[in-house]
Amino acid sequence: MISPFWKSCYDNVCSTLKEFREVSGVVSVFNSNIDAIVKVDAQHFASWCNQMNCSPEPHFVNPLTINSESDFLEGFLHCFSKGIAQELLISHESLFLNIHKVVGYDHLQMGGQGGIIGNVMSVSGVQNVMVHAASLSKEQAQLFLPNENLVSSLPDGTMAQASKIHRSEDLPLIHWILEFNKGDKITINDVEYCCPKSNRFIATWDPQNFKLAIDQSFIKMVEKQKPKIDYVLLAGYQMLTEPLADGGSALERIHESKQIVDQWRESNKDMIVHFEFASTQDRGVRKMLFAEMSPWADSMGLNEQELIDILEVIGEEATAKRCEKFLDPSDLTEALILLFNRSELPRIQLHFYGMYITIRKRNQNISVESVQNGMALAATVAASKAKTGAINTEDSLLSAAGCEISGVSLDVLNNIGNYISTTYGESNFNSTGIYRCDEFELICMPTILIDNPVTLVGMGDTISSISLVSAK
Ligand code: GLC
Repeated sequence: MISPFWKSCYDNVCSTLKEFREVSGVVSVFNSNIDAIVKVDAQHFASWCNQMNCSPEPHFVNPLTINSESDFLEGFLHCFSKGIAQELLISHESLFLNIHKVVGYDHLQMGGQGGIIGNVMSVSGVQNVMVHAASLSKEQAQLFLPNENLVSSLPDGTMAQASKIHRSEDLPLIHWILEFNKGDKITINDVEYCCPKSNRFIATWDPQNFKLAIDQSFIKMVEKQKPKIDYVLLAGYQMLTEPLADGGSALERIHESKQIVDQWRESNKDMIVHFEFASTQDRGVRKMLFAEMSPWADSMGLNEQELIDILEVIGEEATAKRCEKFLDPSDLTEALILLFNRSELPRIQLHFYGMYITIRKRNQNISVESVQNGMALAATVAASKAKTGAINTEDSLLSAAGCEISGVSLDVLNNIGNYISTTYGESNFNSTGIYRCDEFELICMPTILIDNPVTLVGMGDTISSISLVSAK
């Protein structure tokens, strides 16, 4: 039975969405790419093994990079058998071309946190959304929604509607999104792997975003326009390696990007900088990102896998292992509190199956109700995306409005509630989703869940950006 309180949070989604019209400017940088989506089942996998003439070893380990066809197959099977998401980088172009011949795609859609968030912010009604793309080929530009409020730059730094820019010399940057469904089975070497949770494996060949390429004409455009910027939504660092493939330094790329954002901040003192952490394979870069972003950004968004990944590189391996083993909501909550205490960030938002948790410093301007309303809107939009595969119009954003909070999500809430009452002695948590102490405020929202989602990719980006920008 869903309590009236939780139901009421979801009753406000329509008016919360209208708040977006009050937001003057959002800058969404740096990674936009083309996602080539494939729904993969056992037949596909068998046919890949056949055509690639190899198959995963009986006791394969998850590869860190895709250096061969078998790394590709093993990386996929690792995600499939555990029901987890991960992105691996393809190490060289000839391998990319070989895989390309075999894998193909079902359809293309906007990819990259920058591109996905740009589209979502534009359709939600933000007045001016500036989106960065290292490549603006015709194929890429066509994936930006054809909205006047979604702009990017021409080579000379002039502003133009993003969907109308076609830079013929730019290379399309394609990532494979290999999605799989809960309950599907793949048998290899007489071992049956049954997928416990719908998710995806991403295989990426993207020489521009591998080095966080920043288009100088975009920087010129922002300098010239001097727009009012309320939020900078920052992502695309997860493809960096140290050193970069061309010998350059990831740390220098991170510093350059921070300097650019600092310049924007000079004329927009109240601007909020949100960093979206993503599946970052290079452990050195992962550690560097946490060290660089934690004392500098105002907010960070991540999922449970990314939380575990960070803990692994900041000396909290035991907590990381425990979280990884059981994916227990209480463990994840404890881990989030630990991460918050280890960071200097005023706000972190974690999202995982059935639950969003915002942890923030006390005495913020934005009310707790507003934060919960923002998360309820994010959950509704995410469910609409899962249900229909597309959230390209204002109406479609709320197509899942009215769906009930899932029973699984309420179980997760109870689980976290037990942890909060045993650890902190707070017994009201299950009815409010809120726990406060001197150091932090924890604000939760159980979510709607959609069975057999049409798509999952880009969900985290949608959740993080909507929750943040809609909370006023
Ligand atoms: C990563 C992938 C990109 C995908 C995005 C979704 O950035 O590289 O292909 O669209 O994640 O969040």
